[in-house]
Amino acid sequence: MTNLNAEAEEDLMQLTRRALEHQQQQTTDLTDSVLHMPIEAYTDEARYSAEKDRIFKTLPLALALSLELPEPGDYKTIFALDTPVLMVRGDDGVVRAFLNVCRHRGARVCESDSGNARNFPCPYHAWTYGRQGELVTRYAGQLFGDVDEENLGLTSLGCAEASGIIWVTLNASESIDIDGWLGGMKTRLDTLKLDEWHLYAKRELPGPGWKVTLDGYLEIYHHNVVHGATVGQHTIGNLLVLDTYGPHQRLTLGRKSLGSLKETPEEEWQPLEHIRLVHNCFPNLSISGILGDHCLVSQIFPGEKPDTTVTVQMVLCAHKPETKEDIAAAENFSAMVLQAIVDEDYRLGMLIQQGIKSGANSELLFGKNEPAAQNYHHWVAHFMEQKADMNWGA
Ligand code: FES
Ligand SMILES: [Fe+2]
Repeated sequence: MTNLNAEAEEDLMQLTRRALEHQQQQTTDLTDSVLHMPIEAYTDEARYSAEKDRIFKTLPLALALSLELPEPGDYKTIFALDTPVLMVRGDDGVVRAFLNVCRHRGARVCESDSGNARNFPCPYHAWTYGRQGELVTRYAGQLFGDVDEENLGLTSLGCAEASGIIWVTLNASESIDIDGWLGGMKTRLDTLKLDEWHLYAKRELPGPGWKVTLDGYLEIYHHNVVHGATVGQHTIGNLLVLDTYGPHQRLTLGRKSLGSLKETPEEEWQPLEHIRLVHNCFPNLSISGILGDHCLVSQIFPGEKPDTTVTVQMVLCAHKPETKEDIAAAENFSAMVLQAIVDEDYRLGMLIQQGIKSGANSELLFGKNEPAAQNYHHWVAHFMEQKADMNWGA
């Protein structure tokens, strides 16, 4: 995060002031009351299925980073929920998303995870699609017989590229109003300059249910207790400065050095040495700048049942690590976040799933000091009430 403009610099100063105030007073941002969440929100399969449809399959989801497909012809495939998706950057520089399904008899057109291609021949009977999804050739087309080739391109999905992220709607082909959807969060995401980072590692991690997983990403209350040996070494437990932009949230944590600023004139502050930002885009993207030159991007996808997810975890480095030291630093960061998520958060989360199943609790509780997790549940309810408004303004 270099070369920030004056507004972004001032924003970081403000965040640092707010965090320092909390550190001095031993407080944190709060809601007005404790939230009681009925256990059915975590267990009811019909509700889960409706939430997946209404939230994950209808709203724009971050399915790729721009840096994964920088050049024309670069593509990425993903099986998101139950939907096979192909994203391709066209010769015009625009990224498009399609159902990765052949229009002849439904085969998976592109089976590789990523690459660069002039076109996409189906592995079944070699119908071939271009970078814009159009049907370009049909093997033995004359013998096959006439079909309306114009209308047999790959099925388009809504797709937009903004803030270094490719957003896709799984259930709709209409264009996405991404500025309206991100609202004021867009400016915040833009400061991350995500398209300038280097993808160092990528992996898929099985995890507990969607809500248990997200609850963990959205509160700091557990950090000292759970992450004392990993990410918690660097941050102050239970200190959160929260900004919301519609359903999207930016969480600011204090780093252990924050208190030293009390004695430092503001002109000498280097905010990012003392705070840590986590950007959470509803419903399932977390971008966490844990240490200056490294960043963790997590996309959480609900599984078949309410108690499973798969997380696509990407480790980014500000620059491609070339020196021995840089490679070691990237490796250390990657190993630390893997441990924090798999051995700490998700291990606990799996046990929470068993706890939920046991019938011990008819509800789960979210404290006033867990405002981001509370907001998340309010927004899930908002979208389940079928509220159409998705334009949050700046
Ligand atoms: S299913 Fe793709 S060409 Fe036949
Ligand atoms: Fe955690």
